[in-house]
Amino acid sequence: MKQIIFNIKERTEKIQFPDNLGFGKIFTDHVFEMDYTENKGWHNPVIKPLSNLQMHPATMFIHYGQAIFEGLKAYKTVNGEVVMFRPDQHIQRLNISARRICIPEVDNDVLLTALNELINIERDWIPTNQGESLYIRPFIYGNDPFLGVNPANSYKLIILLSPVGAYYPEGFKPVKILAQDDYVRAVRKGLGECKTPANYAASLLAGKKAMKQGYTQVLWLDGVTQRYIEEVGTMNIFINMKDEIVTPKLNGSILPGITRKTVIHLLKEWDMNIVEREITIDEVIEKYDSGDVLGVFGTGTAAVISSVGWLTFKDKEMVINNGEAGELAIKLFDEITSIQYGIKEDAHNWLFTIEKKEVSVS
Ligand code: COI
Repeated sequence: MKQIIFNIKERTEKIQFPDNLGFGKIFTDHVFEMDYTENKGWHNPVIKPLSNLQMHPATMFIHYGQAIFEGLKAYKTVNGEVVMFRPDQHIQRLNISARRICIPEVDNDVLLTALNELINIERDWIPTNQGESLYIRPFIYGNDPFLGVNPANSYKLIILLSPVGAYYPEGFKPVKILAQDDYVRAVRKGLGECKTPANYAASLLAGKKAMKQGYTQVLWLDGVTQRYIEEVGTMNIFINMKDEIVTPKLNGSILPGITRKTVIHLLKEWDMNIVEREITIDEVIEKYDSGDVLGVFGTGTAAVISSVGWLTFKDKEMVINNGEAGELAIKLFDEITSIQYGIKEDAHNWLFTIEKKEVSVS
């Protein structure tokens, strides 16, 4: 890649974190930006102070949603190092999303270098309390001012950073989930497996209605028969039953979560019977009624491992593990966060260490 241009401003005020960071409310001082045009490819990489975007009202992604994003995290370890968790997997997934939405792919090394340089500069923004981290949001959007429906000719990639705590208002306590069949999030061969705004737009109304009834999130059923459970939209779902742990098989309409992949890897390593298969909501209810459901939990970068304490479908209310976090969910949470914070050895090479470098300010 062309050399990154550093247009860094000195920080004049001390960074002050609020008591409860929550999720996605505060942002660091700088962003990485890069442009794409057909004749130049990806060019003009720059790290610069965070500022509002200026764009033409006809900018294509605003009208037709040609945009993708990723969500990954950086941590300050107990040894004072700064690490990212599985950035290679996130970059790979960003490019899978890019191909599906006709967005030009970004070279893996270019993106890794950009992440490394930006996080190095913003390392003081990484909170160190338990459960806190620096959320990294790379995104790309179609940037031409044009009202015709076709892939854009020019794009912008931005990496935005946000110090975060727990995603859900409940913190890391069990959440209440509503399975419903009034709306669908995605269908097979559609966009469900991509990280693209359309999937989140599709989820808003059902989410709002669920929240009004006291639920945190919606458990989506498949878009065709509305019998098979798929995902929660902000996390993948696992049902821990007496003789197997089941997570819905990736079928094109489910996001291939990196935390999902990590959990499957760990469960296999622990010799547990993890099965990726189709599972209906009726089967979950049946297994619950026969006392076979030991726990339900979700996995995601933002959500980490989140126990589901209550799961409802129509008039069936299931209280899972007395509304308390399940043993397996706690074990997975501890294992993954211990690796992320450098408490446990990174035996799988999941961490990428951010090089410490001095960068001169302008
Ligand atoms: C993530 O876990 O990174 C997500 O993208 C979920 C959500 C914040 C959109």
